[in-house]
Amino acid sequence: SSVASSLNSSPAFVKAFSSSSSSCPAPFSARDALVTPATNPAFGDYQCNAALKLAKPMGLRPRECAEALLALIAEQPAVAAAFDPPTIAGPGFINLSLSERHLAAAVEAMSASPARLGVPPAAEPLRVVVDYSSPNVAKEMHVGHLRSTIIGDSLASLLQFRGHDVLRLNHIGDWGTQFGMLLEHLTESGADLEAAGAVDLVAFYKEAKKRFDEDEGFKTRARETVVKLQSGDPSAVAAWTVLCAASRREYAKIYDRLSIRGLEERGESFYNPLLPGVIEGLGPLAQVSDGATCVFLDEKRFKNKEGESLPLIVKKTDGGYNYATTDLAAIKQRVETEGADRVLYVTDSGQSQHFQMVFAAAAKAKFVDPSKTALEHVPFGLVQGEDGKKFATRSGDTVKLKDLLDEAVKRCAADLLERAGEGAEMTDEMQRTAAVVGIAAVKYADLSLNRESNYQFSYDRMLSLSGNTAPFMLYAYARIRSICRKVAEDGQTWEPGEWPDVAGVEVLLEQKEEKELARGLVKFADTLIEVERALFLNKLADYLFDTSQRFNKFYENCPVNNAESEELKRSRLVLCVVTAQVLEKGLGLLGIDVLDKM
Ligand code: ARG
Repeated sequence: SSVASSLNSSPAFVKAFSSSSSSCPAPFSARDALVTPATNPAFGDYQCNAALKLAKPMGLRPRECAEALLALIAEQPAVAAAFDPPTIAGPGFINLSLSERHLAAAVEAMSASPARLGVPPAAEPLRVVVDYSSPNVAKEMHVGHLRSTIIGDSLASLLQFRGHDVLRLNHIGDWGTQFGMLLEHLTESGADLEAAGAVDLVAFYKEAKKRFDEDEGFKTRARETVVKLQSGDPSAVAAWTVLCAASRREYAKIYDRLSIRGLEERGESFYNPLLPGVIEGLGPLAQVSDGATCVFLDEKRFKNKEGESLPLIVKKTDGGYNYATTDLAAIKQRVETEGADRVLYVTDSGQSQHFQMVFAAAAKAKFVDPSKTALEHVPFGLVQGEDGKKFATRSGDTVKLKDLLDEAVKRCAADLLERAGEGAEMTDEMQRTAAVVGIAAVKYADLSLNRESNYQFSYDRMLSLSGNTAPFMLYAYARIRSICRKVAEDGQTWEPGEWPDVAGVEVLLEQKEEKELARGLVKFADTLIEVERALFLNKLADYLFDTSQRFNKFYENCPVNNAESEELKRSRLVLCVVTAQVLEKGLGLLGIDVLDKM
């Protein structure tokens, strides 16, 4: 496991920084990471800037303080041996470089346990709810939902790999006033309930909305239907069930194509019985204003466009509950019944204010104790067309997700055919490869960018074989597989397709490129731990890209099959295998399957 984390949790180290005697106030708490990955690789692998903060309270000059910290490191032989002699730079920065011995041992440990590859299970496993995907019944599942699905699925997998107890929830919009008009339209148009399963739900929604906006009588009847539905009227409930089922069949197709598994549907309707309890639980915080029931929050933090203070509405003037009420109920349920320690909400950044207000109201009402349960909005930017404008088809319509995925696969197949050379014909294998690579490209293009930025969708860019793309990464993996196969053909005892048995082989890091590759490999754990904290998956993609580039440099300079000695050959084979396994695991966490051949 990571030396940085062992230093950070080493009692002597932490105590030196946080002992709270009156002469030395504590500038650090035990939760601060004192040793962090180096911001500039030229300065080593890790850095510790603590001396600058500590010097004053300790009455030392920063460099003296840094010396004192080095003495603390020296006191711990296991830690000291992990580094080359540390250096102090500038006013008192400590630079730490992993020693060759440590690097070799760490790679050996990774090869001995391919299931974890040096990634320690979380010291404190948490119960984590990840709320993602969450499309709305009878409305289009759009590219925003695609982003939420891809990001949420990947975060959930990563947290699970770290040993957390993860509940993946699909907070489907399957409740609320819009169902009045949908159900009323269904009954009035005389549509057969069973057949409704097959109608175009998006068109159906538009028709219902049109009537609702234009026909007063319809509007009134739709409102009555909502009341019926909410009071459990059997025929209203039956019609609602049919609509939900029809939508579900549509999402299921997308989830299937994206290999989304373990996502539990728990839509807004699930929380309906809990809504009155929310208002009750708010007690005096619930105040009636202009006929609506509101919770007043920090006026400076929450303002509307006009700059006026914005309360959170939990019951509308017509007596109906809304999106916020459901989210408050969901927080209560996730805390009380699910025992959540951490809840992630993966939606577009347009909903940031909604979540900040709901979180603030929940804390104020004591539905959640923020020191025990972290509620985190994980926002992402818009998907745009290549021109930076709205992402749409040529005719200006919204792009259907199914068409988007089909197009990626189709273009990928065309690329493969072209690369196969003139006169080549499309084979089943090309089709199968394209089906994997096309989907991988869509996912990777999304995950490899900072999620908070808007994202310009480009098939050409995502399918390119060069740069930080899925095809590049998959190709890098397949190449290592093929290197291993070649060694296998050369009289080794393992089956091609299997990993060679490299457990127990000694790793030699004599050449610069070998050492640099090892340095990259051992950072897998730090990278995942960082993503787990700040939830930026592009850090994992960057890491994998960097690792494959380190591998390429290694392979250009260090022959494997023709190494000078048998020992060196086996050592280099370990580097190949561990690199491939890190890529496979890392891409797997991004929801991407690898291919043995490409
Ligand atoms: N259905 C919502 C939408 O389409 C997303 C729901 C997110 N989750 C939540 N607990 N509010 O935008």
